[in-house]
Order: sequence, then C-alpha cells, then structure tokens
Amino acid sequence: MKAAVIYRYGDPDVFQIEDIERPQISPEQMLIKVFASSINPIEWKMRKGMLKLLTGSSFPITLGFDVSGEVVEIGEQVTRFKPGDLIYARMDQLTGGAYAEYAAVAEKAAALKPTNMTHAEAAAVPLAGMTALQALRDEGEFQPGQAVLINGASGGVGTYAIQIAKVLGASTVVGVCSGKNAELVRDLGADSVIDYTQQDFTQTAAKYDLVFDVVGDRSLSECKAVLQPKGIYVTTQPYPGNYLKSVLSLLWPGQKYKVILLKSKASDLAYLKAQIEAGHIRSVIDQRYPLENIAEAQTYAEAEHTVGKNVIAVSERAESRT
Ligand SMILES: NC(=O)c1ccc[n+]([C@@H]2O[C@H](COP(=O)([O-])OP(=O)(O)OC[C@H]3O[C@@H](n4cnc5c(N)ncnc54)[C@H](OP(=O)(O)O)[C@@H]3O)[C@@H](O)[C@H]2O)c1
Repeated sequence: MKAAVIYRYGDPDVFQIEDIERPQISPEQMLIKVFASSINPIEWKMRKGMLKLLTGSSFPITLGFDVSGEVVEIGEQVTRFKPGDLIYARMDQLTGGAYAEYAAVAEKAAALKPTNMTHAEAAAVPLAGMTALQALRDEGEFQPGQAVLINGASGGVGTYAIQIAKVLGASTVVGVCSGKNAELVRDLGADSVIDYTQQDFTQTAAKYDLVFDVVGDRSLSECKAVLQPKGIYVTTQPYPGNYLKSVLSLLWPGQKYKVILLKSKASDLAYLKAQIEAGHIRSVIDQRYPLENIAEAQTYAEAEHTVGKNVIAVSERAESRT
C-alpha cells in the first residue's frame, strides 16, 4: 500500500511516499481502507521530534491519527462493525498511522461515519472534535446556561468547540480570533468575538464560567479576573508544569486549572455523529491535499494559521459521502 513514512525527525522533506506492507490487525482491531485523513498539530510536532521522548527512535514511522474510510477486515473480537461499514476514528496507537491507504484501527476508537459528511469532512472531526468535547464537558464541567470564552476559536479545535458549546447549552460563547476570521467564528455560533490583535481578552469586564485556552498561551492567573469565583480554566498544553498547576489548584476552593489530554472514545464519536447529522456541527476545511503532498500540508499547518482543518485525500472517495 502507499504510505507517507519518515526515517528520521526533521523538516517536512523527511516524508517519503513509499509502497509498504499493509498493517497487520490484532483481534480487537479492524483494517480500514482510508479515504481521507486530516492534519493535527501533534503530527507536525512528532515529525519535528518535539515528542521523541515518547515516540522513540525506531523508524520508519507512519504518522497521522484521523481516519475516515471503509472496514475491509475485522479482528475476531470485533462485534460492532462488519466489512463494508463506513467509519471514522482517531487512531489510538502512539504515533498513529493514518497517512496511508490502509490503517489498523481499534474497534473502541471508531464509530460509524456521519452520513451527511464526505470522508474529507468526517476525517477532520475525530481528534479536534473529541478534544473540544472532552475539554468543555469533562475537564470544564460545562453546564447549560453557563458562559464560555474560547481562545483560538478559528483553528481545528476551536471551530468545533464553539459549536459544541452551543450544543451543550451555553448562554454565551465568546470566540477569540483575529479580525479576518471573526465572521466565520460568529457564523459557527459565537455570540461575540474578541480580535486578539486589537484587544486582550483578560482585560475586559466580562465574567465566564469557563475559559478554554485552545492556543494555550495564557494562564489561570492571567484569566482570574475574567473567571467566575468557581470558574474553570482549561488548557490544551499537557506540559508537566501545567499538571502541577492543576493539582495545586485542587488543593484550595475557588477557580480551577485543568489540562485536557484527549482520549479516543467511540461513545464520543457517536455523540458527535448524532450532532453532525442533526445539523448542529460542521467541519470547516481550509486546505485539501493529496497524500503525495503531505510535506506541503504539514508546512502549511505548522504556520499555525489554519482556519478549521486541513484534510488529506487518500483516495478518490475522499469527497464522497459513501
Ligand atoms: N492536549 C490535547 O489532547 C490536544 C488535542 C488537540 C490539540 N492540542 C493542542 O491544541 C493546540 C491547538 O490545536 P488546533 O488543532 O486548534 O491548532 P490549529 O488549527 O493549528 O490552530 C490554528 C489557529 O490558531 C489561531 N491562533 C494562533 N495564534 C492565536 C492567538 N494568539 N490567539 C488566538 N488565536 C490564535 C490561528 O488564527 P490566526 O491565523 O488568526 O492567528 C488559527 O486559526 C495545539 O497546540 C495542539 O497541539 C492538544
């Protein structure tokens, strides 16, 4: 099968498009014919070697976490899917493997694909959409009627977070983005927008129950004044120092510091599928690339100005709903 592999960490030119063996599946996995994948920041961070303490030095590595495609083979313990099913998933292997024509996906990491999305639109959802859901609902303990500010509202996680906050019953959703993306962020459901190039959101008179810092460039102490007395600050940056702050904030009453670390959950993908099919959540696609142009795709994503998601078409069925 065709796959984008790397033999060392480095710049985007380390990607090589090669013919390699299809992955072997274990009893709890399925072999998926990948029609589309998408780019997430963790993938270019892994390619650069920023996470090599975790990802090790054993090569070649096939990166990529998000998959939309068709089940072609199932392991003997798989009960929820059969060959021919169209699924979407966030692979739960340490380095993924989705930048390829076939991927070995755990049953517990997959759900049926939203029927009203193309594979490209569906492949944009799993990692970013589940991060937004778990950050708001689980770490943020978000309740209907509460007010939330999302810092980084125009990116992969942020565009889903605005829509999910509305689904969860937010009274007010404020999106922080640059002026060029304000209209999109409002269109996705934000009640108002703060242009970060013009105004510092921590210096306003507003009070939020939750600040979801998708960019991860602020801190609980900077956000204290704009958080309710029992408000929660959630960051996407899982650094050891941030976990320490999180544990310390639990030791006394008042505002809390939380870190989101995504877990692949079939039940969350099923929840997102239902909301997508009900018309409450959509994917915003910035750029579309064929698998052969993966280096170009990661170069674009690494500039950190993506609006929504960048998707990778692995097959001609990427733009099909079936
Ligand atoms: N812990 C986890 O489980 C987890 C899961 C997913 C993601 N993450 C992390 O979360 C971060 C965001 O991920 P993502 O997929 O949303 O990234 P992304 O799509 O690459 O984010 C790009 C967006 O961020 C905006 N942005 C850049 N600087 C900003 C600023 N100072 N204030 C407000 N917006 C700003 C950009 O808008 P402009 O062009 O207008 O600047 C752009 O639209 C990454 O660091 C990623 O690694 C962590």
